Amino acid sequence: MSTVKNERYRQKYHIMPPQGWMNDPNGLCFFKGYYHVFFQYHPASAEWGPMHWGHVRSLDLVHWENCPIALTPGDSEDKDGCFSGSAVVKDDKLYLIYTGHNYLTGTKKQEVWENQNIAISEDGLRFQKYVKNPVITTPPSDNSTDFRDPKVWFEDGLWYMVLGSQSKKREGRALLYYSKDLLDWNYLKVLAKADLTANEGYMWECPDYFELNGKKILLLSPQGIAEEEGRFKNLHQTGYFILSDDGNQVIKSDFYELDSGHDFYATQTCLTEDGRRILFAWMDMWKADMQEQADGWAGTLTVPRELRMQGNRLCTYPVAELKALRSELLFTQDKFIKKTSFSSSSHALEINAVLDWGKADTSIYFELNDEEHSQIFIVEFCPTTQKVVLKRKDADGKRQASFSLKQQLELKIYIDSSSAEIFINGGESSFSERFYAEGKLSINLCSRILIKQKLDVYRLSSS
Ligand code: FRU
Repeated sequence: MSTVKNERYRQKYHIMPPQGWMNDPNGLCFFKGYYHVFFQYHPASAEWGPMHWGHVRSLDLVHWENCPIALTPGDSEDKDGCFSGSAVVKDDKLYLIYTGHNYLTGTKKQEVWENQNIAISEDGLRFQKYVKNPVITTPPSDNSTDFRDPKVWFEDGLWYMVLGSQSKKREGRALLYYSKDLLDWNYLKVLAKADLTANEGYMWECPDYFELNGKKILLLSPQGIAEEEGRFKNLHQTGYFILSDDGNQVIKSDFYELDSGHDFYATQTCLTEDGRRILFAWMDMWKADMQEQADGWAGTLTVPRELRMQGNRLCTYPVAELKALRSELLFTQDKFIKKTSFSSSSHALEINAVLDWGKADTSIYFELNDEEHSQIFIVEFCPTTQKVVLKRKDADGKRQASFSLKQQLELKIYIDSSSAEIFINGGESSFSERFYAEGKLSINLCSRILIKQKLDVYRLSSS
């Protein structure tokens, strides 16, 4: 077991591992009064390793309780890892559907085989692997052995499963299966695949498929999308296609990134009790410099975000429940000003700003600095280009997104010990960022000329 040796970057209200390594959120669901979030977990060290399923649960989506490890690898079907997957409720029981990850022994290059498995729980805490695992043994014959991350849902009397995969021609693709009883599965078809002539990726991970405001959304994390006009700059991307049907075939929209920050991957969604579609992502990126590893842990999830469509754009916005974290109004103002500055020794902050451009065609800046006033990042909103650019100091520091120019610019920013999530105009764009700074944070919001700045800053506490 690894232990946490230093608390400096430990999050105050985001989900993170008790110690050790975490990546993707898994098995999001509501079961017997609790929201459950599982996650890819390696308890033995702060590095990726044989994947377990870690587990937390919450009554309110805000306060999370650590639960025992739900899945441990090592059986003949999941020898080398219990990879990502989802959860559904059937007959008052909780079913986890996950990928068994196995290395082919005796090969020089570590070749893998993957299959799909089930584990069942009555109380949502103790899980029994299904005795007849695996429930899907091999992928279709034109697929590579990459075949993972099942997302399951119930529709019109049948269970469906979408899987992330890759064809033998190296096209990323999403496979669709169905089942009458959740245990016996049949292959249906390729739901959608990357166009080899388009920049759509050689492997699709963590697919999720759902309808929102009449639009069919295929949300996924492709590998192998090349940078294009300032977009797709992370090692791997997370975004969505809108799917439609012309009677003969499925038609995909362009691929849109869902978040423009450095640290956002492997999303999963579920429905709340009252029917909202919410999302968590792993707020990190493969191969990123995760400085908390030196302290015996690694990885955190985003805050839960509600998904909404604005036209053809999928927007994410922090769930309303997070207001329960507000413990003190640290700062408030409503006036014409060029520069607002404030500092806070607590990193757990919610910043709400409404900035009135008036007739100004000047840029607006949001700047996060450490105790020595050294810049962590700056975000510049330019009204003429309608581009928002986030800059960190390192070589790969720049990320950008677009925003729509309205009378007012609306910002909601959640900061924690080692992360910042910035939501623009109700979530039409967002940036998710990890950062590593100890001590006080100082924050500036400024423009070159006077603009009206309405600002409320709350200190957050989850106790
Ligand atoms: C995505 C991913 C999944 C896989 C898991 C392994 O980050 O690569 O495809 O199931 O992580 O930890």
